[in-house]
Amino acid sequence: MASFLGSWLILVVSTVGISLYHVITSRPTLLFISSVVALEVISFVVWAFYWVVLYPVYFTPFRNIPTPPNRKLLTGNLDEFFPDYQWQIARNFYHTIPNNGLIRYYGGMSVERLLVTTPNALRDMLTMNAYDFGQSSTFKLLVKRVTGSTFSFTTDEVKVHRKHFMPAFTTTHIKEITYLFWDKCVQMTDGMEAQTHARPGVPISINDWGSRAALDNIGLAGMGYDFETLQKPDGELRRHYEKINVKPHKSLNWVGLLSNFMNLGLLLQIPFKKNREIAQGAKYVRSVASRVIHERKARLLASKGVTDRKDIISVALASGAFTPEQLVEYVMVFLSAGHESTAATFEWTIYELAQRPEMQQRLRAELREFAPKMDDINPTRLESLPYLNAVCSEALRFYPFTPMVVKVAERDSTIVGEHIPKGTLVAYIPMATNRDKAFWGSDAEVFNPDRWMEPGKAKSGGATSNYAMLSFSAGNRNCLGHAFARAELACLVASIVGRFDILLANPETAGIVDAGQVTRSKAGVHVHLKPVDGWL
Ligand code: HEM
Repeated sequence: MASFLGSWLILVVSTVGISLYHVITSRPTLLFISSVVALEVISFVVWAFYWVVLYPVYFTPFRNIPTPPNRKLLTGNLDEFFPDYQWQIARNFYHTIPNNGLIRYYGGMSVERLLVTTPNALRDMLTMNAYDFGQSSTFKLLVKRVTGSTFSFTTDEVKVHRKHFMPAFTTTHIKEITYLFWDKCVQMTDGMEAQTHARPGVPISINDWGSRAALDNIGLAGMGYDFETLQKPDGELRRHYEKINVKPHKSLNWVGLLSNFMNLGLLLQIPFKKNREIAQGAKYVRSVASRVIHERKARLLASKGVTDRKDIISVALASGAFTPEQLVEYVMVFLSAGHESTAATFEWTIYELAQRPEMQQRLRAELREFAPKMDDINPTRLESLPYLNAVCSEALRFYPFTPMVVKVAERDSTIVGEHIPKGTLVAYIPMATNRDKAFWGSDAEVFNPDRWMEPGKAKSGGATSNYAMLSFSAGNRNCLGHAFARAELACLVASIVGRFDILLANPETAGIVDAGQVTRSKAGVHVHLKPVDGWL
């Protein structure tokens, strides 16, 4: 039924074409054409009536699952087609609709979604049946647009690929490349200090520096290639990358909504200026990745399949499980999954610390006791510092980069005993679960690193469920790069707090979360930095 609209549109376009032909050739077939148009109009009205009025009440297989009251015909349970913060509305349902693990709600044009709420339901979705759920068509479309990637791997292929990538993403392996992150963080803080001297009183943009450091880190740790965006902010790679690293325009909301009903991939091929720019940017980044990967492959062959390189792509190539072309796709995936997410979490961490001198001092004291000089730091051991770990974990909990994750059932599945047919949209809400008092206690809505400091709570923060912290998702399809991201975040935070006193320059605006699908500061976090003697 959902695919009706695609076929219907093809029919309408054909009718218009035939009508034009007949108008041009002046053939007297008006009656025939009018009948076809009337049939098309009637079929659309019947479809819309079924979909919007009858389906949610009488025909949905989820009739027994609780749903919010007051559904509107066009916008469903949302007050508008594209609310700025859909995750907030979903979070409200999470807290107010009594349920046994599932809530259903409707978006624009009656698009139906299930919210997965309780630990049991999350376990079914994320662990037991993790490979039944894949990326939604909207997500694929947006990723394809910015990466130029077809990323058409099935969930079964991803399962195999994850197995072969895993050795490169284990905590032990990441420890071996953490010095790369640290070197970049030293470069970042050198650059920040130089900027502070060159333009006294002008605030530093945490997003600008953090985003460049994170990009360089993915280049180095991901494929052993230095993008050098810290040294060359206006370099060619950064210029091209910035073309793809753009917030989707609001008009794409419609494309996203309609992609639930029909395949709109062709729209991305239309040579609008923006599409052209994004395609150029993606092409350039892909060409760099392709060149590096082919070089690595040639070296690997020359050394008879043995490599001492630690970057992820070299480890993956040595596994023999990937073609260079597949790895180009994955480099684009790592960039889109791991770059802004890490940079934004770093930005939120600094936002919280910059307002709390006492937290900065406590963290700085820990760092300086661990390493009296910046050069003495052993980055592989940073993660063992309790307060640094506590601050980073709390920032990850409090500001999950994806506040709501929407997936689609790629095959029939079940969640808490409920049959979930193929094609169902299913979502979980890290922003609700991560701040749920039922798991985190009465101060769940407070940024409190100390919850990770109590004996035995360094890994759980005292949460009462394995599914209470969903920033990296959970279960079998959790974030592949979580150890990478944690090690990188620890380096970023340690380097700046160890070296500077941080003062928030835009306290009125920094904390406002931008509208959209990710948790980013709308105005950015801007700070004044004052070097603290004794750590160079
Ligand atoms: C703070 C930083 C990060 C956050 C908050 C984060 C969050 C997430 C989340 C929530 C998912 C699951 C999405 C879903 O269920 O569809 C995910 C998946 C993924 N992440 Fe991350 N991520 C971060 C950093 C990274 C980094 C640095 C990399 C790689 C270098 C990475 C690579 C991936 C990959 C490959 C997947 C897909 C896994 C799969 O499909 O099985 N992420 N991430």
